[in-house]
Amino acid sequence: MQLVTEDNITELAAARWATARDPRLAEIMTALVRHLHDFAREVRLTEAEWMAGIQWLKATGQISDDKREEFILASDVLGLSMLVVQMNHRLDAAATPATVLGPFHIAGSPELDFGADMSEGLPGTPLYLSGTVRDLDGRAVPGAVLDVWQADADGAYEAQLDVDEARLRAKYTAREDGSYCVRTIAPRGYSIPVDGPVGELMGRTAISHFRPAHVHFLLDVPGYEPLVTHLFAEGSEYLDTDVVFGTKQELVVRFAERDPGPTPDGGTSSEPWLEARYDFVLQPRR
Ligand code: BEZ
Ligand code: FE
Repeated sequence: MQLVTEDNITELAAARWATARDPRLAEIMTALVRHLHDFAREVRLTEAEWMAGIQWLKATGQISDDKREEFILASDVLGLSMLVVQMNHRLDAAATPATVLGPFHIAGSPELDFGADMSEGLPGTPLYLSGTVRDLDGRAVPGAVLDVWQADADGAYEAQLDVDEARLRAKYTAREDGSYCVRTIAPRGYSIPVDGPVGELMGRTAISHFRPAHVHFLLDVPGYEPLVTHLFAEGSEYLDTDVVFGTKQELVVRFAERDPGPTPDGGTSSEPWLEARYDFVLQPRR
């Protein structure tokens, strides 16, 4: 009979999980067992505390569904999402840096033409985001698809609302010269959802639950490293305290105020509008 003690339980459990048939799974599970046990030892975890932790995980699962990604949110506010992004996207310094995906991306957005309005019918200051998609050598990447999404003026994403049509999300295709143009409304800083277990836990801390104003981009172009990133509005509140640690200086762009007149899509605006320019630089696939 194997006698289990506080001193040998970790090695016994790790050895059991080391039998995983996939060597990488074996590596991950044995390390997970060791770190979990070390954590419990370090804080001298009580049974009541571990049961509270289990109930929190249970509630996090129970509130999650196709639209509500509470585990992504948990990973984001713990800084784990951003650590994983950093470790896996050690790109050339000239390439556009990656940041968190977040819980609100919806696949299959409608394809819009150069400069078409993805905010159709929604209140807000018109914003034109334009520039080019290029490679590290400055060559245009024609046909690159920019999958774009953002929150509305109240800080709500489509996934948080009960709507039937695509809302503030679209795919734009870069032209032959690599140029793209997105017409939307100015994003604002917003609170991440705090009505679930993640918010409940954060409510016991002094952590700010806000994100600075930003627009999300996903560029998955054949031959290049997939890029998940944001553009942040310069001067936006919460740039220094982003609750998910997603801000990077290179991604902060000026949203310049423009008078009524010609816009980057070749049209005209009858009201004041904002202009942001950004050139995406893609890293060839390794
Ligand atoms: C977002 O920017 O959409 C987001 C990212 C992480 C957590 C919550 C929201
Ligand atoms: Fe966002």
